[in-house]
Amino acid sequence: MQTQTIDINTQIIKPEILHFSKIDSTNHYLLKNDLANGTVAMADFQTAGRGRLQRKWEASKSDGLLFSLLINENLDQYHPAAFSFLSAIAVYEGLRNVYYQLPLALKWPNDVICNGKKICGILVESRSSGSGLTKVVIGIGININQDQIFFNREGLTHGTSLKLETGQDGDRIFLLEAILESLEENLLFAKNEEISTILNKWKSYCPYIGKQIKLIENKKEHSGVFEDLDHEGGIILNQEGELNTYYAADVSIDKDSL
Ligand code: BTN
Repeated sequence: MQTQTIDINTQIIKPEILHFSKIDSTNHYLLKNDLANGTVAMADFQTAGRGRLQRKWEASKSDGLLFSLLINENLDQYHPAAFSFLSAIAVYEGLRNVYYQLPLALKWPNDVICNGKKICGILVESRSSGSGLTKVVIGIGININQDQIFFNREGLTHGTSLKLETGQDGDRIFLLEAILESLEENLLFAKNEEISTILNKWKSYCPYIGKQIKLIENKKEHSGVFEDLDHEGGIILNQEGELNTYYAADVSIDKDSL
């Protein structure tokens, strides 16, 4: 591991990042160690990258931007659901600031989509004690330089990378800087804010509201119209006039309905 100083203008997030060539998972590292608020761990390669819903996150060596941010101060100033949504907003805005012509979208709860395919996944993990959250780790994986062979080999038919979308190699550190600045901006925005304000910002980047979608929860499929988010960030589906809310599911978008 080496400490690398990156070029960011932030108060909470530390510019001295921990850069690992290989690690099990940057999320796991920040969860298990006692480190300062705002610490960032980045890896060229993860042997046990973690994804949502107990899945793995695969990325070939140095082709992905894989990093996690630790927040362990002032957590009482945030709605617990805020982190997942503000992180997706931050990646969306950070990517847009660098690649302003990319057709980006957010998919519930925190995937970043480019041209209908997933370019970034986010896993927020936390620890709490009786009085509330004690530690939040925001883990972000962005596909940067993977080619189509990688997605075919891994069976990731709905995945894409910045290289595939722009035709150019992406600079991981430059993107990391842009996204961390955007993360800090959104952490400040979300502080002491009603969850509805954060959800409204998230919704403004999500083109799938009002569209027919499919959800998979515990291997069961549910179809309906994406009606809204509830006050905890759950997804409300209108299923033939009946409104049902889901909290731990995967969304797929029916292309014909867009
Ligand atoms: C998902 O879409 O399922 C979330 C994927 C999150 C992957 C990132 S890569 C960096 C960080 N470390 C991990 O082990 N997972 C997150």
